[in-house]
Amino acid sequence: MFEKLPTPTIFAHRGASAHAPENTLAAFELAVRQYADAIELDVKLSADGEMVVFHDQTLERTTNGSGWIHEHSLAALKELDAGCSFDVTFCDERIPTLAEVFESVGQKTYINIELTNYRSPRDTLPEKVVTLIEQYSLAERVFFSSFNPIALRRAHKLLPQIPLGLLALSGIGGAWARSALGRSIPYQALHPALSDVTPRLIHKQHQHGCRIHAYTVNHPEDMARLFAWKIDGIFTDDPLLARGILDKLPKPEGDA
Ligand code: G3P
Ligand code: MG
Repeated sequence: MFEKLPTPTIFAHRGASAHAPENTLAAFELAVRQYADAIELDVKLSADGEMVVFHDQTLERTTNGSGWIHEHSLAALKELDAGCSFDVTFCDERIPTLAEVFESVGQKTYINIELTNYRSPRDTLPEKVVTLIEQYSLAERVFFSSFNPIALRRAHKLLPQIPLGLLALSGIGGAWARSALGRSIPYQALHPALSDVTPRLIHKQHQHGCRIHAYTVNHPEDMARLFAWKIDGIFTDDPLLARGILDKLPKPEGDA
């Protein structure tokens, strides 16, 4: 499906999370209205094995709940408010399931599904996500990413036609992923931290026929620099801002 994405791709990181509460239906729907090319979301399992879209391992930062998300059932998570702490106008927002996101925007955009089973790297998250993708016939509209190579391998085994993005931690922690060692994972895109992106790293990925998508790029100067370096995509909380920066750049020769 990467061939369907424009270059550079503007990924709405956790949805249009600068303007709506992250990883909520409001943020994903806003990203579509703001002409993001694709959205990025974080999925993990609740205590009763349901696929929920949520970034942190704990509930405090973005909800009125507390404790570990993996210790709460879906029913308990659905009681929580996931929007008020962002802005009172979003107090109706709830933690969505992956199925709810698919229903809401699955046919309207492309989706980077980050498999975030980092606390339980061998759980059944990849298998469950693959089953849901098939149920919603979204194999042409999604791709996987993760810092967890086990999850990527398992998803790839089940649906090899879906591209993989290998996430690299910033600095020394992500060195293996950015090096030739990372290529033991059959990825088609490297996802490095903004601070690690150089023209050389971009060139290296392109030489291997891979795309490179950087996270998380929220400042106009960084956007302009990465676009000029021919990055293939950026994850940004503010797709509207990124679109404005991209539109102001000189168009490559041959483009209308
Ligand atoms: O996928 C890019 C980015 O989302 C990875 O980091 O922590 O925001 O999920 P994080
Ligand atoms: Mg993420």
